Amino acid sequence: MNSKSILVTGGAGFIGSHLVRLFVNKYPNYNIVNLDKLTYAGNLANLTDIENAPNYEFIKGDIVDADFIHQLFQKYQFDAVIHLAAESHVDRSIASPMDFIMTNIVGTANLLNAAKATWTDLSSKLFYHVSTDEVYGSLGSEGMFEETTSYDPRSPYSASKASSDHLVRAYFHTYGLPIVISNCSNNYGSHQFPEKLIPLFIHNIKNNKSLPVYGKGENIRDWLWVEDHARAIDVIFHQVKIGETYNIGGHNEWKNIDLIKVICKVMDKKLNREAGTSEKLITYVKDRAGHDMRYAIDASKLQNELGWKPSLQFEEGIEKTIDWYLNNEEWLNNVTSGAYQNYYEQQYEKR
Ligand code: NAD
Ligand code: DAU
Repeated sequence: MNSKSILVTGGAGFIGSHLVRLFVNKYPNYNIVNLDKLTYAGNLANLTDIENAPNYEFIKGDIVDADFIHQLFQKYQFDAVIHLAAESHVDRSIASPMDFIMTNIVGTANLLNAAKATWTDLSSKLFYHVSTDEVYGSLGSEGMFEETTSYDPRSPYSASKASSDHLVRAYFHTYGLPIVISNCSNNYGSHQFPEKLIPLFIHNIKNNKSLPVYGKGENIRDWLWVEDHARAIDVIFHQVKIGETYNIGGHNEWKNIDLIKVICKVMDKKLNREAGTSEKLITYVKDRAGHDMRYAIDASKLQNELGWKPSLQFEEGIEKTIDWYLNNEEWLNNVTSGAYQNYYEQQYEKR
């Protein structure tokens, strides 16, 4: 493998930390620079196992700071960017859309501008934008999102990600910037901040707190093991076709309430509680504003063209995930202290 200097943004977050770990371990010839602002969602404890690797460097910084980003590109002369840094939680985007507009749209534009300004020979460069299936909107009971599905984002989060996808494609068409985009479904696994459904409910069951199910719990999501997402990014990065888009998904649709009942069942077993104990914590609460009904991803392009497919069955993945949270109490306690407490107390008060 030729040596490369790669900027990963958002590498201290959930998916980013799995991707950084994969690249640092698998490609000793690559220099991986992890740029992260360390918001509430970014945590260097996610990467302690590789923090001293000779091909890894962490830089704390904000992608919204255009001058800083420009200087970083000039100093490091990156060959490629894998851009994951984002505000990523839909509920927070409903409460504070401007943070999402700044980081997800302006931050992405700053990275594109810095790449455009510093990449003179474009032949071996790549700007890889990691995006979401939420840009496609909401499905009824039939059909799946394909790469050609029209964009129809409905939350401030998904609208900000759709904007950033459009900007990335515009820089390809207008300036010839070598780009690729992938749009992935809901990830689950270790090191996810416990505000998203799966880690929040594991955390609440452990602490005998109520499980706030939005609406009737009938919304459907497609769930993918986070390490399979990282592997998909690896495959797309290395077999890249410039200008393409790939959907990534688990072929693993679950109605929220059914998924929650699986979590409850496994948690009862792991915590040696009587069967049915955790389900009693389920509390139906006011629905999320503009709650998308169903996401389903057709990932056949990625499978047929590049040979990727999910590796893990959901039943195995959810058990591994629960085990990780139960065995990493210190991590959970650290990330759920301070600002997290305030945020959740406010959320619950509103209902
Ligand atoms: P996350 O919230 O866990 O991590 C985001 C990271 O970005 C954090 O480490 C945070 O500190 C950093 N960050 C935020 N603002 C920044 C800024 N202004 N400058 C620099 N760093 C900043 O998110 P995630 O779930 O790991 O998602 C990563 C990417 O993948 C996002 O772009 C998201 O839209 C996309 N995605 C997520 C999922 C999912 O299910 N979680 C699915 C599909 C796509
Ligand atoms: O589809 C990909 C997207 O998946 C990513 O782009 C986002 O970054 C990621 O956060 C995720 O978005 P969702 O909104 O689907 O994930 P979340 O875990 O917040 O919610 C999953 C479902 O569970 C959704 O239908 C809302 C519901 N839910 C969520 C929470 C946090 C509840 O019923 N109760 C809750 O407390």
